Amino acid sequence: MHIDRYEKYWLILVSIVLAIFFAALVAGAVIYGVRLPAPAGMVNPLTIDDTEYAQTGVRLLGQTEDGQPHYEIRFMAEKWRFVVEGEHVSGDATHPVITIPEGSTVTFVAVSRDTTHGFMIERHNINFMLIPGQVSRQTSTFNEPGEYGMLCHEFCGVNHQGMWMTLVVEPAEASDVVAQNQES
Ligand code: CUA
Repeated sequence: MHIDRYEKYWLILVSIVLAIFFAALVAGAVIYGVRLPAPAGMVNPLTIDDTEYAQTGVRLLGQTEDGQPHYEIRFMAEKWRFVVEGEHVSGDATHPVITIPEGSTVTFVAVSRDTTHGFMIERHNINFMLIPGQVSRQTSTFNEPGEYGMLCHEFCGVNHQGMWMTLVVEPAEASDVVAQNQES
């Protein structure tokens, strides 16, 4: 079979590019552990109030290897707010404010009560869907003090744009002062 010279060059070039893409995919999966997010579990939205997922809040799970706190933040999405209550939570019922110390690792565990919502944190690598019936879970570390908006990024109805809460990462000194005040 005769193949034109230029066509042959292009075939070789395309094969090389495909081989590079495939190598990058394998390297990402094997070396860097990149995985597609999978549901962390299933839950029936109709009986969600009887499940552990209705017990929202911020819990200290333990410490990371480098001695920093590891929290779990469990919350529920509903039209049109994120529901989370208890310690570390201030703000109001529609726009909670969660405060954690700098250096914390946080595992977010969330479900939706009604429709499909989204969840992302500004300037961070947390981003997932909240699909009714599905449990979403993702972990990240917060080393930069500051205020981070946590937004619903999936259009979910008339007040979608009002659906957000705030994460405050306190500088280490400030949280030491808080801890000392609580001790004394
Ligand atoms: Cu919830 Cu948009």
